[in-house]
Amino acid sequence: MSKHPIRLAVIVGSTRAGRLGPTISRWFIEQARDHGDLEIDVIDLAEAELPADLGGRLADGSYASPEVGAYAARIAAAEAFVVITPEYNRGYPAALKLAIDSVYTEWKAKPVAFVSHGGQSGGLRAVEQLRQVFAELHTVTIRDGVCFPMARDRFDADGRLHDVEGPGIAAKLLLSELLWWAEALRRARAEQPYGF
Ligand code: FNR
Repeated sequence: MSKHPIRLAVIVGSTRAGRLGPTISRWFIEQARDHGDLEIDVIDLAEAELPADLGGRLADGSYASPEVGAYAARIAAAEAFVVITPEYNRGYPAALKLAIDSVYTEWKAKPVAFVSHGGQSGGLRAVEQLRQVFAELHTVTIRDGVCFPMARDRFDADGRLHDVEGPGIAAKLLLSELLWWAEALRRARAEQPYGF
C-alpha cells in the first residue's frame, strides 16, 4: 500500500431511471482496484442534488446548500477524475453539464479520463464535446478511454461484462495514463500552486 494513494473520483454521469451508468461504473471500479493503490470516491450525480439554477456559490464564497458544499468538497479532494458518460442525441447528459458547471477552481490542474457508453457511437461524440468543456476548467484530458458501443448488450442481467478482454486492456491504458498525470500534477501543484 502506498502512503499517499491517488484520490480518484469516478463520476456517474447519467441519472435517469433504469440507467446503465452504475453497471458501467461498478465494472470500471473493479478494473481500477486491480490496477493499483487508489482511494476511490464514486460521485453518483443521481444523488448529488445540485440546484439547476447554478446558484451553488454565494458572493462571500460559501455554498448555497449543504449538498453543493459536500459535492464541491469531493471534487476539491480528488486528484484525478474518471467521467462515465452515456451519449444522448449526440451529446452528453444535462446532469453532467450541471455538475461540471457547479464548481470551478476545484477542477483545476487535474487530469480527467472518460469511459463512455452508447448505441452505435459508444458515446464517443459525447466524449469529444466533454474534452472542449474540460479545457475551459484547466484540466488535462487523457487521450485513451474505454468505449462501449451497443452498451446494454454487452452486460448480462447481473451486470457482468460478456467480452472482458478488449475493455480490460483499454481500462489498463486509461488508468496508466491517468495516474501518470495525477502523480505529475500532484508534484507540480505542491511545488508551485496553479495560480491561473
Ligand atoms: C440514447 N442513446 C444514444 N446512443 C448513441 O450512440 N447516440 C445517441 O445519440 C443516443 N441518443 C440517445 C438519446 C436518449 C434520450 C437515450 C435515452 C439514449 C443510447 C444511450 O447512449 C445508451 O443506451 C446508454 O448506455 C444509456 O446510458 P444510461 O442513461 O442508461 O446510463
